[in-house]
Amino acid sequence: MCGIVGYMGSERSYEILIQGLKRLEYRGYDSAGVALVRADGSLEVHKARGKVSNLEQVAKGGDTSGCLGIAHTRWATHGEPTDTNAHPHLSQSGKIALVHNGTIENYSVLKQLLTDNGYQFKSETDTEVLVQFIEYMRETHGCDLFEAIREALLRVEGAYAIAVVEQGNPNTMYVARKSSPLVIGVGDGETFVASDATPIVGFTDKVIYLKDNEIGIINRNSPIEIREIDSNEPSSFDVHKLKMSLEQLEKGGYDTFMLKEIFEQPATLRDCVRGRIADDGSRVVLSGIDMNRERFLNAERITLVACGTSWHAALIGKRLIQDFCRMPVEVEYASEFRYGNPVLNEKDIVISISQSGETADTLAAIELAREKGAFVYGICNVVGASIPRNTDSGTYIHVGPEIGVASTKAFTGQVTVLTLVALAIGQLRGVINADRVREVARALKEMPETISETLKIAPEVEALSRIFTYAHNFLYLGRGYNYPTALEGALKLKEISYIHAEGYPAAEMKHGPIALIDREMPSVIIAPSDSLYDKIISNVQQVKSREGAVVAIVSKGNTAMNDIADYCIEIPEVPECLTPIVASIPLQLLAYYIAVNKGKDVDRPRNLAKSVTVE
Ligand code: F6R
Repeated sequence: MCGIVGYMGSERSYEILIQGLKRLEYRGYDSAGVALVRADGSLEVHKARGKVSNLEQVAKGGDTSGCLGIAHTRWATHGEPTDTNAHPHLSQSGKIALVHNGTIENYSVLKQLLTDNGYQFKSETDTEVLVQFIEYMRETHGCDLFEAIREALLRVEGAYAIAVVEQGNPNTMYVARKSSPLVIGVGDGETFVASDATPIVGFTDKVIYLKDNEIGIINRNSPIEIREIDSNEPSSFDVHKLKMSLEQLEKGGYDTFMLKEIFEQPATLRDCVRGRIADDGSRVVLSGIDMNRERFLNAERITLVACGTSWHAALIGKRLIQDFCRMPVEVEYASEFRYGNPVLNEKDIVISISQSGETADTLAAIELAREKGAFVYGICNVVGASIPRNTDSGTYIHVGPEIGVASTKAFTGQVTVLTLVALAIGQLRGVINADRVREVARALKEMPETISETLKIAPEVEALSRIFTYAHNFLYLGRGYNYPTALEGALKLKEISYIHAEGYPAAEMKHGPIALIDREMPSVIIAPSDSLYDKIISNVQQVKSREGAVVAIVSKGNTAMNDIADYCIEIPEVPECLTPIVASIPLQLLAYYIAVNKGKDVDRPRNLAKSVTVE
């Protein structure tokens, strides 16, 4: 969730690093820092609490020359967000500078060892322990910096992506990774390092993804060298072509990334479905499933694991798979699954869902599933991320980089891919009839137009948002396919407007939460014209008879609800299984406009980070 950038070349590194940090701010943003090595070997470090712009202010007075540097934007895990806890951290002598993503699990043991040997610490971070430990290794082993880093990492437990530079050496940068991503960008006479590819875009399209337990030596005068940390043997690597464009990273005329991403959904859903439905609409073609037919034919159960918004998509996925494939499906929070002693074997399929592909809990869950012999299928957005590289097979959602911290287009992409996956498995197992496949496939192909139509309600939702800007609590209710939609709507509101909101199955409300309903507690009720519509009408009446305000999301042309609900938002009619995709649009917009009305930073809500790489 923190971000790393590094540069070595013939340009001034400072400006490149600052630009990279700004692109990475979505990952974590409580402090930032930079370490520069100038041509004469001197080392200059600047750090500041808060956003990257604060760092720029702090660095203004200093010498920011130097063509080698490393930088970091932090999301605190050990120690508060302060200038001192910001990275880069320096070793005791002040000669080694290091930036780090991840957590060092055995840092307190190492810190004790170092303290016993006279080392002193300025910060509360595990990262400072690591850089001090590297210096300790260099001193006690009498070795060079590369060997000291390797020796230190051999004794470290936990997760890390690191970049290291040293005073007196303007020609070398070291990088290493374990369970935390690190990308090397190979330019013409220059090399970039980053925790994901976003800072590299526009400079080079050639990248190397460092693998777990690898250490890289980037030297100005020799080719990049990558070695295994354990054996010190050279490690082979491929140079990949980066497909992300600069335009994709910018706001494209919108005020915020989140709004851009909400409005991008017609295009992202087109990309998501492209090439996956036969031209005549009769079949879904997913290579990840086709290439593993036996596994899917013989599977006895599917378990979906994910976190947050992706977990809400998983709940919808469960219904889709149950409906289309008629097989047992379970959904687990990845963090609970991994500690729940799950019973799995080779007849199990575990589907992990993750936008970033780097979520620590989800990664650990799939590792466990693979150990137990399950076949692991990944649904991911970020190409080349750790999850797709650690699964047996999978499908990318292809919705492009999601920069806003609150997930929007990734959610609709995940539900779309889950629909395709369920159709593909249902076809393969011969349990879904051809007409049903055609009906859903056609609606998926038409989804870009359907979402464009849905987005026309934005001004109406904006007006509605003003009525509720200062509400303190919200209930979101839905049934069937739209119970998870209610959970997702509530999560969006919580994340960016800091208003307490609860998602609930509408019929469960009467078993407790109904006690909360009064004039001060608005309910958003997702009530499209589906098989549960008549049931949900009575839930709306239960809220109304307790004087609660109701915002109902209804299918176009449904006038009956106008007489019961206080406000109705109409969405286009689609097959019941696809209503979550369409109904989530007004919920994203409502959360967005309420947060904007409250003056919140929607792209970077407090305490959150885009990619949660800690447990
Ligand atoms: C909510 C949100 C988070 C993520 C969760 C999992 O808007 O973005 O709840 O969904 O942290 O992240 P991924 O999908 O990257 O595994």
